[in-house]
Amino acid sequence: MRITVVGSGYVGLVSGVCLAAKGHDVTCVDLRKDVIAQLNVGIPHIHEHGLSELLKSVLASARFRATTDLHASLKTAEIALIAVGTPSENGAIDLSAVRQCARQIGAYLATTPHHLSVVVKSTVIPGTTDTIVREELEHSSGKRLRAFGLGMNPEFLREGEAIEDFMEPDRVVLGHEDERTLVRLEELYAPWNCDKLRVNTRTAEMIKYANNAILATQISIVNEVANLCTAVGSVDALDVMRGVSLDKRWSPITPLGRLAPQILTYLVPGCGFGGSCFPKDVQALRTQGESLGLPMNMLNAVLDVNAAQPGQIVATLERKLGALAGRRTLVLGLSFKPNTDDVRESASIKIVRDLLRAEADVRCYDPLATENFKLAIGTAADRIHFSSDWRREVEWAEIIIIATRTQDYGELTSLAVDGKTVFDARRLISPADVASADYLTIGRRLN
Ligand SMILES: NC(=O)c1ccc[n+]([C@@H]2O[C@H](COP(=O)([O-])OP(=O)(O)OC[C@H]3O[C@@H](n4cnc5c(N)ncnc54)[C@H](O)[C@@H]3O)[C@@H](O)[C@H]2O)c1
Repeated sequence: MRITVVGSGYVGLVSGVCLAAKGHDVTCVDLRKDVIAQLNVGIPHIHEHGLSELLKSVLASARFRATTDLHASLKTAEIALIAVGTPSENGAIDLSAVRQCARQIGAYLATTPHHLSVVVKSTVIPGTTDTIVREELEHSSGKRLRAFGLGMNPEFLREGEAIEDFMEPDRVVLGHEDERTLVRLEELYAPWNCDKLRVNTRTAEMIKYANNAILATQISIVNEVANLCTAVGSVDALDVMRGVSLDKRWSPITPLGRLAPQILTYLVPGCGFGGSCFPKDVQALRTQGESLGLPMNMLNAVLDVNAAQPGQIVATLERKLGALAGRRTLVLGLSFKPNTDDVRESASIKIVRDLLRAEADVRCYDPLATENFKLAIGTAADRIHFSSDWRREVEWAEIIIIATRTQDYGELTSLAVDGKTVFDARRLISPADVASADYLTIGRRLN
């Protein structure tokens, strides 16, 4: 099938490259000329494991290309996937890029009898595709729905594992407003053998939000219980969560032994969720609920717990060590999770800001996200030393904070940390492995 993907960021580019790898003919479109030029010579502007190799391979097979010319790309397309950003704006989502795309596609449709299905992949609140997107398309094309098709195909990929998630999805949601679009979506995802849900576009939109809201709730309740463990004392929240995880509804017992589903990783206490999705999506769902007159008590609590959670780190350090002014502090990990350069809503931003406010002497390390982090914190970056060798900085530091669950930092256990304070905000290492250090974490106060 011939596909146009509009917006070539994390979702658009990964989707485009993976769809081409499965045999479709894909054109990725973006406004950014520099990004497009790089993509056409096989250089992705974002970091994702395996993306660079896959991009080169689909370029070589001539099944993939990138362009800034949306109208030209649509001439032979059967589906236009809209994958532009929907950033947070005062707790709601900013739909201006989605609207702009719909208008541009509509302007193309006005000039041709060509039947095209427009499918929203961006995360948009329930009711957006069949109202706002439909209206923009109808208004700018002068045509009614069915003269063009309309669908909604939410994306569940996780940054850092985006290629794997797209190539081996747990499900595909085929939201549609017309049969022709459903048939096309079936064909688009025919190479994938996984559960497929055929629903209307509102249900598709709600599935994406409910999915993220429920996972975010899981993180916040675990963190709230962990904070209570700290306050009570002599309880390690990790032991508590291990006990919880042994409930057979979490980890079923089968004839082959006990299963360890991935959801158990959401039972690990930490410094909160970040990224481009969870915070934005939970806020947007809350805003939608409130605008419809619902109190949205759960989502308010989820967001409140999460906003306060990164503050636990400097507060705990100050309680334990006193004032942090001038204390040599190393922060390991700046992105919101391992293996990505994305720092949007990263807990590390809040942690580093707290450290600077406390006038600590701050050094930071991240193998992928340093440049994005500098942009995110602006002039505060001038007060930080960004290192390219974290092992050397461990020698320098009095305080070491593990802020992302990057496996490499586990090597800390083989370095000299005598007398230093290690704050393991992600439960990456075992306290016994750094016995000569003062080990601090979320959800544990043993003395
Ligand atoms: N990043 C994720 O992990 C993830 C996962 C699932 C869903 N989503 C959702 O997918 C959507 C895209 O997210 P992202 O992280 O890929 O965003 P992104 O910011 O990385 O990429 C968006 C791209 O769209 C381009 N763009 C904007 N307006 C355009 C236009 N009119 N024409 C062509 N290109 C245009 C931008 O230049 C940018 O390159 C969002 O709604 C997001 O919530 C993201």
